[in-house]
Amino acid sequence: MIRKGGSNWVDGENFFDRKTELGALEERVREGTHTLLTAQRRMGKTSLVRELQRRLAETGEFEVVFVDLEAATDPADAIAEIGIQAKPVRAAWDWIKTGFGNLVRSAGGRIEELSVADLKVKLRAGIDAGNWPQRGDAIFAALAESGRPVVLAIDELPILVNRLLKDDTGRVTPEGKREADAFLSWLRKAGQAHRDRVTLILSGSVSLEPLLEQAGLSAQANIFSPYDLKPWSEETAVSCLEALAQSYEVGLGLEVRRDMCRRLRCCIPHHVQMFFDMMHDHLRRAGLKDASLNDVEWVYVREMQGVRGQVDLQHYEGRLEMVLGRAGYTIALEILTATAVDGNITAETIDGYRNYFAMGNAHDGDDAPAVDHVLHMLQHDGYVEPEDGGYRFVSRLLEDWWRGRYGQRFVPVFDR
Ligand SMILES: Nc1ncnc2c1ncn2[C@@H]1O[C@H](COP(=O)(O)OP(=O)(O)OP(=O)(O)O)[C@@H](O)[C@H]1O
Ligand SMILES: [Mg+2]
Repeated sequence: MIRKGGSNWVDGENFFDRKTELGALEERVREGTHTLLTAQRRMGKTSLVRELQRRLAETGEFEVVFVDLEAATDPADAIAEIGIQAKPVRAAWDWIKTGFGNLVRSAGGRIEELSVADLKVKLRAGIDAGNWPQRGDAIFAALAESGRPVVLAIDELPILVNRLLKDDTGRVTPEGKREADAFLSWLRKAGQAHRDRVTLILSGSVSLEPLLEQAGLSAQANIFSPYDLKPWSEETAVSCLEALAQSYEVGLGLEVRRDMCRRLRCCIPHHVQMFFDMMHDHLRRAGLKDASLNDVEWVYVREMQGVRGQVDLQHYEGRLEMVLGRAGYTIALEILTATAVDGNITAETIDGYRNYFAMGNAHDGDDAPAVDHVLHMLQHDGYVEPEDGGYRFVSRLLEDWWRGRYGQRFVPVFDR
């Protein structure tokens, strides 16, 4: 029985459908193809990887390791994180014991008795800016010696790369570029060296490619074969809503479910789950068992567009600002608001923005990325899609959020 998704990743019973994607990724793993999983935000990338790993581990044929680099600040941190997450794999644990056991013993302890948090501190203390590549190689070598092939998933690598590349204002610095380059080329070499023993799956809530393009490091990603995770089809989203309605014993007729999906326009799993959750709350409060089309309207306008829904929008904005920097974010804000208010953005309007921002109007003192880079990023991360030479929002929910939040007070920088 499926339970509501909340906002964190889901797997097992709570993971709905994605059969084609699971099949395609499993095939890649079996063929030793490294994957770069890309998709718009909240599409279910982390869940897909987690569920794939759960299933592969269940067959008994694979070892699986999941690493989240969101909190890593430098390559040494990242290596320590990979090391600690690899601990359940026997060969990796043996490596930790021989490499770091001495450190612990000399401090008068037994490594077996350390908690994961303490172990991580020890590991981290033994890895520094000078030795991280060797330490990283040793972890990979240990994983490759494991009796079973290893599926190593690395989530939020782009966040680390972004952090390495840029300073506080969001500018790519020469040292940052060197550091990102060193880490990515290490990962690339390690991935190539152990191709059939360790398969990599990279993912993240922002796209890696535009970041690498911006820094001139695109070649570092060429051992990874991209896989683009799409939204659910209306049919799948309608079935998921049906399954949720059954679990929570509420009535959502077919027309109601269809209407919910059409309002979203793009069935991003998280938005489908959110809509169900808010509908469920609404029905409970109103003492109703069955939802009508009026309830859909109410929940979409009052709840999805309301304060609770907007919390999610902040999440989107935070990531955008992170990858674009202050100056680039100013441009994105302007472009997205114009697009939401007008329903689309035309080629002429884009030209207008090109001219306007080329004159250094984005943010005092900063050299802003070009309008085209911002648009490229927005398209890559699935905010907008091309339409008649211009762009429009992919998701209606996001479009409505954006208009609700910025549309009213919007004074365009030039007449469109
Ligand atoms: N296959 C699925 N079945 C049911 N719900 C799903 C599925 N995939 C995603 N979801 C819903 O979407 C939410 C977000 O999923 P997840 O964290 O995996 O997405 P993500 O693409 O990694 O997001 P982010 O861009 O923030 O990293 C989950 O909490 C869940 O509610
Ligand atoms: Mg994720």
